[in-house]
Amino acid sequence: MAFLTKVLLASVGLLPAVHAASSTSSAANAQYTLPFDSMEGVTMIPNVENPKAVDAQAVCPGYKVSNVKHSLRGLTATLSMAGEPCNAYGTDIESLSLTVDYQAKDRLNVQIIPAHIDATNASWYLVDEDVVPRSQASNGSVNASDLTFSWSNSPSFNFEVTRKATGDVLFSTKDTVLVYENQFIEFETSLPEGYNLYGLGDRVQQFRIKENLTLTTWAADAGNVIDENLYGTHPFYLDTRYYAIDKKSGARRMVKPGEGDQIQDYAAYSHGVFLRNAHGQEVITKPDSLVWRTLGGSVDLTFYSGPSQEEVTKNYQISTIGLPAMQQYSALGYHQARWGYANWSVMADVVATFEKFEIPLEYMWADIDYMNQYRNFENDLNTFPYEEGQEFLEKLHQSGRHFVPIIDSALYIPNPQNASDSYPTFDRGVAADAFIKNPDGSLYIGAVWPGYTVFPDWNSPRASEYWVNELELWRQKVPYDGIWIDMSEVASFCVGSCGTNMLHLNPIHPPFLLPGEPGNVDYGYPEGFAVTNTTEARAIAAAERRQVAAAKEESDGSQPSSVSILHPTVTPGVRNINYPPYVISNVQTGHDLAAKAVSPNATHSDGAVEYDVHNLWGHQILKATYDGMLRMWPGKRPFLLGRSTFAGSGKWAAHWGGDNESRFASMYFTIPQALSFSLFGMPMFGPDTCGFSGNADLELCSRWMQLSAFFPFYRNHNVLASIPQEPYRWAAVIEASKKAMAIRYAILPYLYTLFHLAHTTGSTVMRALAWEFPDPTLASVDTQFLLGPFLMVVPVLEPLVDSVKGVFPGVGQGEVWYDWYTQTAVDAQPGVNTTIAAPLGHIPVFMRGGSILPMQEPALTTQAARKTPWALLAALDKNGTAYGQLYLDDGESLEPTETLNVKFKAGKTRLTATATGTWVESNPLANVTVMGVSSVPSNVTFNNQPVQSSSVQYDATAQVLFVGGLQNMTAHGAWAKPWTLRW
Ligand code: NOJ
Repeated sequence: MAFLTKVLLASVGLLPAVHAASSTSSAANAQYTLPFDSMEGVTMIPNVENPKAVDAQAVCPGYKVSNVKHSLRGLTATLSMAGEPCNAYGTDIESLSLTVDYQAKDRLNVQIIPAHIDATNASWYLVDEDVVPRSQASNGSVNASDLTFSWSNSPSFNFEVTRKATGDVLFSTKDTVLVYENQFIEFETSLPEGYNLYGLGDRVQQFRIKENLTLTTWAADAGNVIDENLYGTHPFYLDTRYYAIDKKSGARRMVKPGEGDQIQDYAAYSHGVFLRNAHGQEVITKPDSLVWRTLGGSVDLTFYSGPSQEEVTKNYQISTIGLPAMQQYSALGYHQARWGYANWSVMADVVATFEKFEIPLEYMWADIDYMNQYRNFENDLNTFPYEEGQEFLEKLHQSGRHFVPIIDSALYIPNPQNASDSYPTFDRGVAADAFIKNPDGSLYIGAVWPGYTVFPDWNSPRASEYWVNELELWRQKVPYDGIWIDMSEVASFCVGSCGTNMLHLNPIHPPFLLPGEPGNVDYGYPEGFAVTNTTEARAIAAAERRQVAAAKEESDGSQPSSVSILHPTVTPGVRNINYPPYVISNVQTGHDLAAKAVSPNATHSDGAVEYDVHNLWGHQILKATYDGMLRMWPGKRPFLLGRSTFAGSGKWAAHWGGDNESRFASMYFTIPQALSFSLFGMPMFGPDTCGFSGNADLELCSRWMQLSAFFPFYRNHNVLASIPQEPYRWAAVIEASKKAMAIRYAILPYLYTLFHLAHTTGSTVMRALAWEFPDPTLASVDTQFLLGPFLMVVPVLEPLVDSVKGVFPGVGQGEVWYDWYTQTAVDAQPGVNTTIAAPLGHIPVFMRGGSILPMQEPALTTQAARKTPWALLAALDKNGTAYGQLYLDDGESLEPTETLNVKFKAGKTRLTATATGTWVESNPLANVTVMGVSSVPSNVTFNNQPVQSSSVQYDATAQVLFVGGLQNMTAHGAWAKPWTLRW
């Protein structure tokens, strides 16, 4: 939701909340809305901002180690409090068990849990291993490990993890105390000066994490607020350290911040750290250390030794969170969504307009507009009748396209006083006992779009069964192809079980103005709009002033509500889950954990309270939905998109960046966001292209449609009542989009191969420059990126310019980069930020020397593209070599029985292709292009058969060889037989 700003404005009286009953109200079905302050909750000062907050490090005694027992795989020990309990932000746990497990050569786990866990005593909560598995052990031993764990009792228990190869201390709690209480855990590790840390999401922030930040985690229904907690929880970071290598002696020295000139030889050593903890968290990045605080749970830290980022990321996924879901081939096509497609015929018009302008379109998405009063699993029969929908979908499917509807997380609870207000989905959920409860066992009733709502309780197996059944029932009426899960933090617009005893009020309008409603028109436009559209911008500014003035007038006379600040306190032995003593800096109003979310005291069937499992709700709905999809489509890969995620959600779902804005700044942040999700094992990531809230303009949408064409998930989506922003709305955007889409659709086989590698090995799809090149000057680069190892994109991220600056990594070491469009090698210098021409409609793309891309022809759907002839594009490196690979299957089976792997290899004068596998690929090979061919080819042959000279072109200036006319020689399929092209 992007309403945070509005909510804040409203809370200071700038925007009125909706109080009006509809004009058709009668006593029986009065349509009140919720009182606005039911969204607010209680105001608290986050501890990090409170000068009076106790410093647990100063008052807590820490622990002493005893009873140490060593084994080949590590050690176990007891930690006992080293002094009087401090009870700083909870009740100290007197005795802890420490287990150090050298799980594998490259993985070490340190677990600290309460020594006596009494299942009936809810004073602490350990994450369920069925929901979040622990990292797996495989053949590890103390001696064979890359890492060393050491501990000391001086002055109290502290530990270090060291990399054996370099002696570098990766993690050290020296000179700090471990604080372990039932509602508060704190530990601190030192970090080297100028550290390079990445991850710790879900957040909109720069790629390389800055110092002096408080990184809060608590799944929140909040738009893209910079540096604050967002929808998901990924307590994982990558730490990269650079060493300069002396060319003569080979000696290594850690590089200081700001050092590095791209000419020296460097080595990069990365390691990863995962804290398996689902509680609310706060990580504080001090200049020389990192403080990790959680509101409960345990210390379950896994260290991944790398030493490359690739090894860390693979290890994290393979051993701990699981490999990402394989995507359907079609999911890599272009997706069009918006909140505001009012009926089936509007959607049909959108599809027809894409066709008219010949813009690729693969998936149409429906937002909550289709629902009957925002109720899941029911269509509005006036605007989205089932029969018409079936006709629309049949036609859509025939054209090779697909349909994904939104499904919200909350379910409407009817007004019992209104006999005609029936909602069978709710009745079935009650019969199945599938919903979250209040502590007294009554239904927990919050409020979301439909009014009062209940929420599935994923800790009960009955909920998944119930959910799957609802998905199946509704699919009989709406034959959808994928599912979009929204509001899964899990969001609720009021604080607490606000519907309890209030169901007769039946609020049908959320307690704030919907976007576009009078008083809440969004007059936001991208930076630069006032320059490119002066007259329009003036009129818009005037309308905006009128809206602000009207809101002010309305609020005049109303007393500003006095904010009372709550200071939660500790009662030893008792957990205060509603207002935990340590206040995290939750982004929501008042920092209250209950604001805009189901409250911490909501209770699950297994006795768990939302306080302990809140961050997992979004993860669990994805699992339940994924399982449901497998039941609906046995053997087919589910296409599922989710908003709230946890470490491991990538196993089931894709993720979009949430409610961003139609601003250049927002467009920039999508790159670090995508790179972070690469680290989190969720490669299928994409933003709301052209921006969710605010209005896009020609310039922004041209740039953004081109940028997102190189993101794994490519979808344009915006908010109700912002101006439409489908790519065909502006002639220049049509042109820009088609140009970038032509590249995307041509390289779909490469993208698909990258996804297969991600799914089978844990490698990444979108990559940071720093991951491919061990160069300290690249450590922060997030304005350009790589798609797989072979393509580099340098997008324009600001308005009113026609060039962009970019670096060409590795050129000092002989790396060659080819301009995608001119196919010539770029003349770039190491360490120089090169100016690259980028007029509107042009996105600079470069291909790395040493790579070979399998391509097909662009088309309007992926299905059509897969029926076209093949081409290869090879870019020779400085030694005249290149390699590439291709993976193919039917594009949708969960476990395809027929697959094909093709390997490509090029030398100075030849290129070979060799395939293994049984998938039959019958499209022929049309042509091969080789960039970087420095001498005139003498005699071109394909499997020793001469190629007609009329099919061979050589551009001596560009050094490009093009060999066409290969269809006849490969009529049975491009890869049916091994072949060699010589020149
Ligand atoms: C919030 C989602 O983030 C957004 O994408 C969607 O359009 C709205 N909810 C309405 O469903």
